[in-house]
Amino acid sequence: MNYQYKKEFRHHLVDWFNREKRDLPWRRTSDPYKIWVSEVMLQQTRVDTVIPYYNRFLEKYPTMQSLAYAPQEELLKMWEGLGYYSRARNLQAGVKEVVEKYNAVVPDNRHDLSKLKGIGPYTAGAILSIAYNKPEHAVDGNVMRVLSRVLHIEDDIALPKTRKVFEEAVDMLIDEEHPGDFNQAIMDLGAMICTPTSPKCLLCPVRDYCIAFHEGDTEQLPLKSKKTKTKKVKYEVYVAVDEQGNYLLEKRPSEGLLANMWQFPMIELTKDVAKDTFEKQYNVHIKKYVNKDLLKFKHIFSHLTWEMECILVQVKQLEHLPDNVHFYSIEKIKELPMPVMMLKILNVLN
Ligand code: ADE
Repeated sequence: MNYQYKKEFRHHLVDWFNREKRDLPWRRTSDPYKIWVSEVMLQQTRVDTVIPYYNRFLEKYPTMQSLAYAPQEELLKMWEGLGYYSRARNLQAGVKEVVEKYNAVVPDNRHDLSKLKGIGPYTAGAILSIAYNKPEHAVDGNVMRVLSRVLHIEDDIALPKTRKVFEEAVDMLIDEEHPGDFNQAIMDLGAMICTPTSPKCLLCPVRDYCIAFHEGDTEQLPLKSKKTKTKKVKYEVYVAVDEQGNYLLEKRPSEGLLANMWQFPMIELTKDVAKDTFEKQYNVHIKKYVNKDLLKFKHIFSHLTWEMECILVQVKQLEHLPDNVHFYSIEKIKELPMPVMMLKILNVLN
């Protein structure tokens, strides 16, 4: 693209953004902390889902200090339902580091920002361009889709090395006077016009500059190789109630998938009899099967599918329970952070 072309492209794009941009709560601030929160929430999560979480989160944690020292269980409860809970823990760790090391001022350069927990190249670029108006790239899947079409880039966007190709493309195109608007314009274009299927090219402000449009290739781009199949694991979930009407809950380990979240006991279905494993592992005795078919569903993670068969049993506690296991009333359970698939089960209990 020659100089004049680039200038026109930027102008049409940013102009369109100023006319058509979505009114989003994080666009009413230039506070780098708030923009940081929004960008972390927006990774892997849709804008409509994020809005109420974002508002509640900043009401609860209006300053970096208030988030830095919040109890983790409370923080996870605030994040409940958003998924990818390590984002919340990393955000808190990153914010704490800014409070303690940078006197609560979010760094304004890629070098220092990138060292913070949970901040990758995309988030660093988004904070720098949107909050600090620095001409920095912020490339996510949407940006790759838009630019693969505009510039007819045929690299496989499923490969990690491809991101660099698009970062260089943004560096080449970005509007140095309005870098935050430029980056967000591409995001909005990807969300509203340059959609994965059936892009609305007739409404596109940069159609004239789009090679894929001219070549009739928009539906073929971006190139994206298929992920290998996700692994399936079957579980029997024991919703176990004692004589007092309290339910057996377990806190997951502090590392790994859904770390520190609470769940009903899950026994992977292997050759062993799940019932025996459940009774032995949790020191309880099943007195009665109340409902062997309480609920059956799949929960799909990005890399893994859980097939859950939930059964309601009445149990009696035999010896002391393991450290991370408790009987709790429904009221107490509602205060604990639980992943979505467990909330689904909780929902059928009352
Ligand atoms: N997706 C990720 N970041 C965004 C932003 N700042 N605005 C709209 N959509 C986004």
